[in-house]
Amino acid sequence: MRLDKLVSDAMGITRKDSKNLIKKGLVAVNGVIIKDVGANVSETDALTVEGKKAEYKKFIYLMMNKPQGYISATDDKRQKTVLDLLPENFNRYDLFPAGRLDIDTEGFLLLTNDGQTAHNLLSPAKKIGKEYFARLESPLSPEDKLTIEQGVDIGGYVTKPAKIEQQSQSECVITIVEGKFHQVKKMFEAVGNKVVYLKRISFASLPLDPSLELGEYRFLTDEEIDVIGGSH
Ligand code: URA
Repeated sequence: MRLDKLVSDAMGITRKDSKNLIKKGLVAVNGVIIKDVGANVSETDALTVEGKKAEYKKFIYLMMNKPQGYISATDDKRQKTVLDLLPENFNRYDLFPAGRLDIDTEGFLLLTNDGQTAHNLLSPAKKIGKEYFARLESPLSPEDKLTIEQGVDIGGYVTKPAKIEQQSQSECVITIVEGKFHQVKKMFEAVGNKVVYLKRISFASLPLDPSLELGEYRFLTDEEIDVIGGSH
């Protein structure tokens, strides 16, 4: 591949910025400074930029704190999508959301271009846990809590056992291992209640980073990528 592509992929910067760095003599391949932006290089070559190691990453994993008002899709004619929250230089990665949060749900959304890992994380057989903070319209009774925990009919489908930790009369953290459409909302509707606010606070054993404001994102660390079974 071309050197300017390798540098822009490795650094997450635009092709223009990458060319500037190369022309300034700040990029070395296998220890040799190269100023030709179109030089033919391989993704396995040792790349340094301004003396620091820069690694080509085939797969990208972002943790986003999704705000309300954005849909979990890559493209839509009418609504803003979660990809609209990323700068343009991410366009070339073909990122997509691994799973779906409703337009009015906030919280942890994983964006990646690693189809296999996303598929594994979403496979019902893998029983990947998802934790949601839910605020309800009415107090949750001990009976309704138990009913939901044991599994409820959400319209032709009985949910698998879930865990609820009540935080106040009408606030709780619910952990589910499935991802049916509007699942959490439907589970509370099944006992005559209503979710008025929903936020995913963890996904696949990874907690949402509390330092991420709504609409912000960050790269997963290598340790976090290991937890979700991705590759780095
Ligand atoms: N369950 C819901 O009802 N909505 C979401 O966005 C996620 C889980």
